[in-house]
Amino acid sequence: MTLTEIVDQWALRSSAIRSTKATWLRMRTDGRIDALMRSSDPIAQQIGRALRRARDRDLRESQPWVERIEAERTRLAADRSLVKPPGSTEGGPYDDGVTVQQACGVSKTKRDALALHLLVREVQPNLGLELGTNVGISSSYIASAMHLNGRGRLVTMEGSPLRARIAEGVHRTLGLDVERVLGLFTETLVPFVARSEPLDFVFIDGHHQYQPTLDYFAAVERKLTDGALVLFDDIRWSEGMLRAWTELARDARFRVVVDLDRYGVCVYTRTPGRSREHVRLKI
Ligand SMILES: C[S@@+](CC[C@H](N)C(=O)[O-])C[C@H]1O[C@@H](n2cnc3c(N)ncnc32)[C@H](O)[C@@H]1O
Repeated sequence: MTLTEIVDQWALRSSAIRSTKATWLRMRTDGRIDALMRSSDPIAQQIGRALRRARDRDLRESQPWVERIEAERTRLAADRSLVKPPGSTEGGPYDDGVTVQQACGVSKTKRDALALHLLVREVQPNLGLELGTNVGISSSYIASAMHLNGRGRLVTMEGSPLRARIAEGVHRTLGLDVERVLGLFTETLVPFVARSEPLDFVFIDGHHQYQPTLDYFAAVERKLTDGALVLFDDIRWSEGMLRAWTELARDARFRVVVDLDRYGVCVYTRTPGRSREHVRLKI
């Protein structure tokens, strides 16, 4: 039994141990965020600052955006109609029998989406790409950060025309300018990357399997800038995703790797060297 498992067993029995454990975990997270903020890598510092703000719920000018996006989430989460109405000939790979409420339920949580938003606020990307629009929640968090930055454009890809239409309504309601690309990633990604400008922010949040995850990274790589942020979601969602993540996290093409448990944030480098930073923390 590991030390953590022993503490977990004790914690089940005593509230004092539970609160000591919570304090210890918080201090450990603080220490790891501090280490990122003190890093010699400027992008690691930016990641550290964004995570510190996310951890402290330090929203400032983002607050009104968060409220408006969360109002959209609440509206969709109450909608029990089917994404794919009976008789519809349209539909994506995962739409059969799924309600809007259920589709909305696979969006990034408020906490994780806020970290995404604050990362974009810090790194100020010029061109972002999201794989997996779903109903438009994470893209709204990213695009609203770009709006506050006064720079940056987001392109988001989705295989389901029905989900993309729901997302379009969300983006329109929020007044956010997001380009949506419709179709399976296997059909849309390579042609998009071929005509795209350099990418400095990529969020891979769809088709969570081992080979597709590696293939999608390989497809975007040729247009990644030195120092681009590449985020992989649901890295522990399946055995295949964990295997892909384990390989990516060790890959020398990422000079900084931050494992946030549910998703990973990586800094891409065009000149792989020996010096790498690898941090694991939960916010
Ligand atoms: C987890 S959801 C994305 C959630 C969204 N990023 C958010 O947090 O608001 C994954 C989305 O990817 C789409 N998807 C999955 N596999 C796909 C593929 N091979 N091609 C295109 N879209 C795909 C699904 O239809 C689904 O809407």
